[in-house]
Amino acid sequence: MPALVLVGGQWGDEGKGKATDQLGGSVDYVVKFNGGNNAGHTVVIGDDTYALHLLPSGILSPGCTPVIGNGVVVDLSVLFEEIDALEARGVSCEKLVLSADAHLIASYNRTLDKVAERFLGKRKIGTTGRGIGPTYADKMNRIGIRVQDLFDEGILRQKVEAALDMKNHVLVKVYNRKAVEPELVVQELLSYVDRVRPMVADTSLLLNQALDRGETVLLEGGQATLLDVDHGTYPFVTSSSATAGGACTGSGIGPRRVDKVIAVVKAYTTRVGEGPFPTELLDADGEALRANGHEFGTTTGRPRRCGWYDAVIARYAARVNGVTDFVLTKLDVLTGWERIPVCVAYEVDGQRFDEMPMSQTDFHHAKPVYQYLDGWTEDITGARTFDDLPKTAQAYVTALEQMSGAPFASIGVGPDREQTLELRPLIG
Ligand code: IMP
Repeated sequence: MPALVLVGGQWGDEGKGKATDQLGGSVDYVVKFNGGNNAGHTVVIGDDTYALHLLPSGILSPGCTPVIGNGVVVDLSVLFEEIDALEARGVSCEKLVLSADAHLIASYNRTLDKVAERFLGKRKIGTTGRGIGPTYADKMNRIGIRVQDLFDEGILRQKVEAALDMKNHVLVKVYNRKAVEPELVVQELLSYVDRVRPMVADTSLLLNQALDRGETVLLEGGQATLLDVDHGTYPFVTSSSATAGGACTGSGIGPRRVDKVIAVVKAYTTRVGEGPFPTELLDADGEALRANGHEFGTTTGRPRRCGWYDAVIARYAARVNGVTDFVLTKLDVLTGWERIPVCVAYEVDGQRFDEMPMSQTDFHHAKPVYQYLDGWTEDITGARTFDDLPKTAQAYVTALEQMSGAPFASIGVGPDREQTLELRPLIG
């Protein structure tokens, strides 16, 4: 079995953690290929809830090897905090592998993320403040610090000094902050060397060899399609490649090895941070979606903006990712509405758009064109097959599937592993 890619189809928080966790039992490797601890996966197993930020969800599946790929940016203090917290709860992290090529989030980049947002004022992006953007900027600027640099103290010192030569000017002269002493950064990074060393590997080689042996590799995307630095709602995006193409560059696996591209979409839409959101609800319906769906950030605790399902976005996600299967989540949250609006197109200055508008200006002005579908009032959290759903819920799912540009493989009706209706197998 070749590689599978799993990405978010909207603006994140679609329930990728649960989907990955569900596949984790049948795959040999789960690889995080982009992002860092800006992500937040909630996985519920029985009575236990796990909130993961940096670690791949596969960490909770004992048979599977979790991998942090080269496309990820790693905050070592967060990595070990998460490992320690899981191990205290009896979850072994012994098999975790970390790419030697992954970039490290240095303390000065966390500072720069926060001060830059303050500086932008009302033009801010609404970042998670974890240093993600500045660390990816350093990578592209070729002044980044990689995991492998920890093992060559001289090189590490040179690189930190080079980065701070320029950044200290910015910190002091632009942001009115204190200069950072390079040696303090070097010593902090070196304090992790002994714990990091046993988990570091050439993960591209490891994964390609696993694929050669016929093992299954799941490439798990952080954030989501509309937050992708190229294909998202730029500049209100994260700084990495969160779409399926990023799975290859972020892991060192060639595109011909990818067999399936799975996108997770919620039965409605949410977004955190700033930026356009055509179906956003600023009324009681939006409040009800937030309350019913517990829509508060796993990483920052921020209330998520909520709105109806947007089929234009789903079709866009199908296109830019080459989606073979959608996983629909949180259908149960829609229980209780008499009629459920679904956005099928946009109207911009009197013109109809059936596909994502080419320009951001048009997208900012897009008004949703709604089709109204019948709702249901029955509790669906106990449903275990599609036939257990009320007829109107079945019709809602079928209509969404027809509008979204790829078949639905499963439907979530609650947070638990069991609360999933499988329509077609994703593996095998
Ligand atoms: P950054 O990734 O911290 O730079 O934030 C950039 C944008 O991406 C902000 O709007 C964040 O709220 C959003 N973002 C980053 N990670 C996630 C996520 O895991 N879920 C949802 N939004 C996210």
